[in-house]
Amino acid sequence: MSNTTAVNPLLAAAQGTRPSRRPVWFMRQAGRSLPEYRKVRAGIGMLDSCFRPDLVCEITLQPVRRHHTDAAILFSDIVVPLRAAGVDLDIVSGVGPVIERPIRDAQAVADLRALDPAQVEPVAEAVRLLRGELGGTALIGFAGAPFTLASYLVEGGPSRSHERTKALMYSDPDTWHTLLGKLADLAIVFLRAQVDAGAQAFQLFDSWAGALSLADYREYVQPHSARVFAAFEDAGVPRLHFGVGTGELLGAMGEAGADVVGVDWRVPLDEAARRVGPGRALQGNLDPAVLLGPWDAIETHVRRVCADADAALAVGATGHVFNLGHGVLPATDPRVLTRVVELVHGL
Ligand code: CP3
Repeated sequence: MSNTTAVNPLLAAAQGTRPSRRPVWFMRQAGRSLPEYRKVRAGIGMLDSCFRPDLVCEITLQPVRRHHTDAAILFSDIVVPLRAAGVDLDIVSGVGPVIERPIRDAQAVADLRALDPAQVEPVAEAVRLLRGELGGTALIGFAGAPFTLASYLVEGGPSRSHERTKALMYSDPDTWHTLLGKLADLAIVFLRAQVDAGAQAFQLFDSWAGALSLADYREYVQPHSARVFAAFEDAGVPRLHFGVGTGELLGAMGEAGADVVGVDWRVPLDEAARRVGPGRALQGNLDPAVLLGPWDAIETHVRRVCADADAALAVGATGHVFNLGHGVLPATDPRVLTRVVELVHGL
């Protein structure tokens, strides 16, 4: 099975060649904004659903059928490989991942087990099923980046300040680097399983990296994310990288080895292109909250994102993938998403 399809607009834009149209997909396009999602998920736990290939396949396809996005993103979660490797955790609706025994010292880090590819075989099976169904639509795999995974493991759940995570980082750098090294290995095994099964691109989500200064990002995080990207240097799949509030980190996140740098809504794409430097594509960056406003405002913002992206190409960005600046909010009217896809494709 070929991992690249030159004709898919997302793969073309991500690889720096001219796409047939501006590609568009949405982070969190599969999920709670869709009634058909709520229907098939009824009575099935979030994590349980991630280990059922038939269900993963169906949920991944739902937004593609409805919105005609240029890409599907595998329905899963960043904590799936942790759970597969034996970490006792759950995803609590309205809260997020909750870890039974947070990892806060050298012993707990030593006890963290490596991921065996066999433990994520249901995910690989879902990818194979999806490649059989998707035709020319690209399939994006993903993993959580070492820092964002570490934040959940150390805090024990979602956090605003990431204070325990930073406390470990500053007080015991050796343990910190051991932890991030193990999480990089976990991401590599998880991504390898997806790419080998047919995922044509992947996104490394470092959602919470924006909590760090540039200097700390470079010292404590970037080498580990860079190792994940380097493992796929010759895999022939575009590598996407995204975080929230990462305006000051955009250059460093590109340098970690991303072909496409995701940008949230705070930095216009032409300015992002200057920060990232030439030679990489950009993804983004409509504020997901704009989609809760009237169509006039949505259209104005979508047109502005595309105009900023065109200006980004003029200063050296190699392509633009239209997306939101973070995930689809659950309250979003799915009909609005369909209209945004039509608008972007028509511009
Ligand atoms: O459509 C897609 O984007 C694919 C599916 C996907 C999910 N999680 C499904 C999900 C992806 C790519 C993720 C990644 C993920 N998970 C990230 C990185 C992306 C980001 O948003 O920054 C993070 C930080 C997580 C951790 C996580 N899992 C959170 C914060 C939540 C939300 C908690 C809540 O209920 O508000 C989850 C749960 C989750 N992951 C849901 C879905 C569809 C909701 C579960 C449900 O339907 O009850």
